[in-house]
Amino acid sequence: MKPIITISNLQKTYSGGFQALQEINLEVKEGEIFALLGPNGAGKTTLIGIICGLINPSSGQVLVDGYDIIKDYRKTRSLIGLVPQELTTDMFESVWASVSFSRGLFGKAPNPDYIESILKKLSL
Ligand SMILES: Nc1ncnc2c1ncn2[C@@H]1O[C@H](COP(=O)(O)OP(=O)(O)O)[C@@H](O)[C@H]1O
Ligand SMILES: [Mg+2]
Repeated sequence: MKPIITISNLQKTYSGGFQALQEINLEVKEGEIFALLGPNGAGKTTLIGIICGLINPSSGQVLVDGYDIIKDYRKTRSLIGLVPQELTTDMFESVWASVSFSRGLFGKAPNPDYIESILKKLSL
């Protein structure tokens, strides 16, 4: 399996001076289901935020499918689907409406047949 996420010597120090990530080196392979576990404050959200382009790294490099998250940010963001813990577009909205809306955020045309097939596969 080829690497899909490659993290090299990644560090994050927040503006107040707190170092949240120190020399992270990690490779996730395509198709792999990878669980990032750690106690509160371990830096999980910081790491995921950097990969997705929501938080700026202090140093080091992250590649997604071989593309650099800073130099090729449009490409890497188009490859990533983030399902955040708390944030939803509208918590009272239906699954159908939410996924239809999020397709638009990726510049994809409506495709109700495709959405229906995916939701059925996932029993949603
Ligand atoms: N914006 C921020 N400014 C300063 N420190 C932060 C900020 N965000 C997170 N931290 C600190 O960085 C550390 C890692 O936080 P976080 O990535 O949220 O960990 P986790 O998701 O594993 O609980 C914690 O000590 C947290 O207090
Ligand atoms: Mg967190």
